[in-house]
Amino acid sequence: MSKKIYRIAVIGAGAAAALHARAIKELENAKLIAVCDTFPGAADRFAEANGCKAYYELSRLLAEEKPDVAILSVPVFLHAEYAEACAKAGVHVLCEKPIEMDADRALRLIEARDRYGIRMMIGHVVRFWPGYAEAKEMADRGELGEILSVNFSRASQVPARGGWILDPEKGRGAIQDMLIHDIDFLHYLLGDVSSVYTLAARDDTGCFDHVTANLRFKNGTAASAQADFTLKDNGYPFTTRYRICGTEATLEYFYRAAVLDIQAGPQAEWFICRKGGQPEALPLPERNAYAAQLAYFLSCIEEGKDPVLGSPESARESIHILDMIRASAESGEIVRED
Ligand SMILES: NC(=O)c1ccc[n+]([C@@H]2O[C@H](COP(=O)([O-])OP(=O)(O)OC[C@H]3O[C@@H](n4cnc5c(N)ncnc54)[C@H](O)[C@@H]3O)[C@@H](O)[C@H]2O)c1
Repeated sequence: MSKKIYRIAVIGAGAAAALHARAIKELENAKLIAVCDTFPGAADRFAEANGCKAYYELSRLLAEEKPDVAILSVPVFLHAEYAEACAKAGVHVLCEKPIEMDADRALRLIEARDRYGIRMMIGHVVRFWPGYAEAKEMADRGELGEILSVNFSRASQVPARGGWILDPEKGRGAIQDMLIHDIDFLHYLLGDVSSVYTLAARDDTGCFDHVTANLRFKNGTAASAQADFTLKDNGYPFTTRYRICGTEATLEYFYRAAVLDIQAGPQAEWFICRKGGQPEALPLPERNAYAAQLAYFLSCIEEGKDPVLGSPESARESIHILDMIRASAESGEIVRED
């Protein structure tokens, strides 16, 4: 029996959309059929580059193309509105992270999924990222022992994307754009938090551009996560790191986008220090995490199951932790879970 080919529309034609277009090309059972962007130039450019049809209105795309899946790559403050429109049209939704601006607004996506009986996943791509997905598997297998402490960080130039990212009502800067990646992964790795304490600085837009969140998880683990948008116009490359210290081993990861030697490409390093042993380099799997994420979502649709990875419920719990982190940044106080 021939495999079903899923007809996919990308909604929003910016930075994330380009990553999804590349991922779709990697999958045999996915075909990019259309793009929609309210800015015609952006839709036309994307359509030409990726060989699909351009639309400027979502309702028109949904009515004319009837895609199987919509990938929402629009600004965060539009996620609920766009997810509702797709769900109402019976279209499955893969929505970019974070699910919405806060946990209350995130409920709208869950309600839309349930009302219209579609499948929905939130694109927390770090769960599929080489070196991160495997860290979770190693922790689950007990290879790291009891996890005692965890540090995660990411730093980036302020993206040259839509102005919405540095709008306190629409994008909220580094805390919403970057920190959420690691907060979702920490929630996936360690479960629910009991308290958070944040130190953060604002830029002149009013968004927090440098955030250090200290988290205590209900299992007792202490963690910190840092996101930094203060590296302005100086060429410092996009960088992410983590260190996970367990009773049996410490696992460390480092990624730096190409900068000193563009030809050499990005640098990534991953190693483990096992109890009683010597540091050992680990090979990082070669995997396009966006393609792995989409392949997983399509397999859920095929099998008639709701996704477990990136479920809207877990994404809502992650944005709830982010709400606590923001409340702590604003008050300067420890915020405890009820
Ligand atoms: N997973 C990742 O690695 C990753 C990377 C980048 C962005 N993202 C996420 O993807 C989503 C989109 O981010 P992006 O960086 O692609 O943004 P972007 O600004 O580059 O692109 C957003 C697109 O949406 C369009 N748009 C549609 N309606 C709009 C409106 N009413 N106002 C403004 N723009 C409108 C814009 O024209 C633009 O082309 C966000 O949720 C972001 O957090 C994820």
